[in-house]
Amino acid sequence: MKKLYIKTYGCQMNVYDSARMADLLAPLGYVPVEAADDADLVILNTCHIREKATEKVYSELGRLKRLKQRRVEAGSPMLVAVAGCVAQAEGAEIVARQPAVDMVVGPQSYHRLPEMIARIARGAGHALETDFPAEDKFDHLPEEHTAPGPAAFLTIQEGCDKFCTFCVVPYTRGAEFSRPVAQIEDEARRLVAKGVSELTLLGQNVNAYRGEGPDGAKWGLARLIRGLARIHGVKRLRYTTSHPRDMDGELIQAHGDVETLMPHLHLPVQSGSDHVLKAMNRGHTRDDYLRIVERIRAARSDIALSSDFIVGFPGEMDADFEATMDLVREAGYAQAFSFKYSARPGTPAAAARQIPDEIKHERLQALQALLSEQQHAFNLATEGRVVPVLFEKRGRDPGQAVGRSPYLQAVNVDGAAGMIGELRPVKIAQVLVNSLKGVLAETHVPAPQRTLAL
Ligand code: 5AD
Ligand code: SF4
Repeated sequence: MKKLYIKTYGCQMNVYDSARMADLLAPLGYVPVEAADDADLVILNTCHIREKATEKVYSELGRLKRLKQRRVEAGSPMLVAVAGCVAQAEGAEIVARQPAVDMVVGPQSYHRLPEMIARIARGAGHALETDFPAEDKFDHLPEEHTAPGPAAFLTIQEGCDKFCTFCVVPYTRGAEFSRPVAQIEDEARRLVAKGVSELTLLGQNVNAYRGEGPDGAKWGLARLIRGLARIHGVKRLRYTTSHPRDMDGELIQAHGDVETLMPHLHLPVQSGSDHVLKAMNRGHTRDDYLRIVERIRAARSDIALSSDFIVGFPGEMDADFEATMDLVREAGYAQAFSFKYSARPGTPAAAARQIPDEIKHERLQALQALLSEQQHAFNLATEGRVVPVLFEKRGRDPGQAVGRSPYLQAVNVDGAAGMIGELRPVKIAQVLVNSLKGVLAETHVPAPQRTLAL
């Protein structure tokens, strides 16, 4: 038995990839552990989206170098691999900067890890795999999933052809690619057989999904969702991350009539100013976005809306930022992520004149205050309601379990520790600053379709 420690940074696609790497290495005798200290193989599955995320990887590698030295001295060496988007973007530079790294593997080539480990064992030095290999990674991943839990991620699409001027993804994850429908349905069935009842379909541009269907036609996301909803045991479906440009009528309609499709939508807008949206090359206006929100609310009035925002993009004036604040007030969010613009090498916006950090900081504070207020208001609007909760894991207190409401809220429930994997009606009893407390309810009351007061 060998010990494997994987540390995951960044997005949910990386969480999925980390799980798949563990599945891939299991037949080689690697068993996942919770810390790097006595691991035989450490994989950092990295994120390149903002400078901070990349810096974190290098400081972790510094710590691993010292650990590796101690391990060599103790006669039990360890291997260090860098996977994910930093691996893809920086490749051999990583080994030059940190020689303790044995392997560098990009997100499209991690199915080659077993081969790479064998090469190192033969004393062949460092191993580097950062091509976009012609063979489909998904064809080379094992069918077996190890203990995924009641809610699992399933990658259906990768890459991006949109080229927003701030973003590294088109360079690190490559062009848009959709997995065939049959391959996704098979994986969904295997996950269900392992006890999964909630699937989150993943893609950098998940609603740009156009996969080959069993009938030879290209299927969009809405059709895929309708197909997956028919699989016995799939009780809940979610998808992320969507682009406003690909939010078509069929997908909006699916929110209105597919019962298993949860009322939550992560639809990043980035900015509320048309001038900034244009400079970002987003391909939609503020008005386009607000119209989509209106249509989605018409199909599913209680949808929990979520977004990403960037403040301090080059050229963002006070009036542009105010337009973002206005859009937030108009759209009304249940939850959202917001970031200071971070200039990424090689992207078009990195060459533009940058906004001072103090201004970015001020804008971020103001935006986050407004978003937290909205999140709290959304949560309060669910207080007293009975909603189905899927229990995912044990909570902090004894006997407690944590689950998710249809709106993706995390709910702590006492006396539910024995119900992990079950979908139960829960009354939202108390809205705290960072979490919700629920109590088990007697009967199932289906979530009514109503507009939450925001
Ligand atoms: N700087 C700051 N935030 C960024 N994002 C993507 N690129 C950058 C960048 N250069 C944010 C966007 C995206 C989310 C995943 O990360 O908001 O939707
Ligand atoms: Fe990070 Fe983007 Fe890569 Fe995900 S796709 S790991 S968010 S850089």
